[in-house]
Amino acid sequence: MLNIAVRAARAGGKIITRHLNRVDQVRFSAKAAKDFVSEVDQASEAAIVSTLRKSFPDHAILAEESGLLAGSSDEFRWIIDPLDGTTNFLHGFPQYAISIALEHKGRLDQAVIYNPISQDLYTASRGAGAELNSRRIRVSNCRQLGSALLGTGLPFREGDDFDSGFKVLREFSELTVGIRRPGAASLDLAAVAAGQFDGFWEAHLSAWDIAAGALMVREAGGLVTDLNGGENWLQSGSIVAGTPKLLPEMLKVIRPHASAMTGLHKSGY
Ligand code: IPD
Ligand code: CA
Ligand code: CA
Repeated sequence: MLNIAVRAARAGGKIITRHLNRVDQVRFSAKAAKDFVSEVDQASEAAIVSTLRKSFPDHAILAEESGLLAGSSDEFRWIIDPLDGTTNFLHGFPQYAISIALEHKGRLDQAVIYNPISQDLYTASRGAGAELNSRRIRVSNCRQLGSALLGTGLPFREGDDFDSGFKVLREFSELTVGIRRPGAASLDLAAVAAGQFDGFWEAHLSAWDIAAGALMVREAGGLVTDLNGGENWLQSGSIVAGTPKLLPEMLKVIRPHASAMTGLHKSGY
């Protein structure tokens, strides 16, 4: 199943790279304010779905642009972001990826994140660890905020709680060695899994942004929770990830603001 997921991710990647030299001609529209979908997102999704459907015609699929495509069996469900980082893509900023996860009986089982620019391929299978380009990866040894480099996504949409989001950013900016906001949540989580970031937090994501990345972090020896330290991250779309020693320190900063940060958004799960 992981092999087929890799094949599907590469098929999506081929479509994305084919448009690289003419990004300014790519047609796109806004699904909501500051939430864009382009013909490339749609074509990438079609290629991924058709690759998966060929091998697994009865699996359910939750894909960002198509929504839930029911299957005849509800044991398996694929969760797909065909282009995570659309805004980056449309601006020619080379930080975006394809993210594919497979749930089996409600548990994340397989994960692929593919960066079509660097061609970095992150994979994980439940119980079998995480790899980057076929080499085992592990989260860093970071134990305290004072030596941590964190990734995040900042409030930017209507309805986001800017006050709480920027309070947390301010605290982490003082406490850590630095914060990065690259703009593709799947790659942010992959960076935690590979030990490049020591932790990551973001509110208001959707299941397709984080399903693969979360399994990647866990299989690389890291922890994943929601903003309160609970298990409701895939449903809520609000997530904290980090090394086992760092995550509790991150939660001390985030928890007091968790309910304000989460607000009334829906995650699209
Ligand atoms: C977005 C990216 C971004 C995050 C946004 C997501 P999209 O995904 O992951 O980093 O901050 O909230 O929506 O829309 O480019 O697939
Ligand atoms: Ca996304
Ligand atoms: Ca997307």
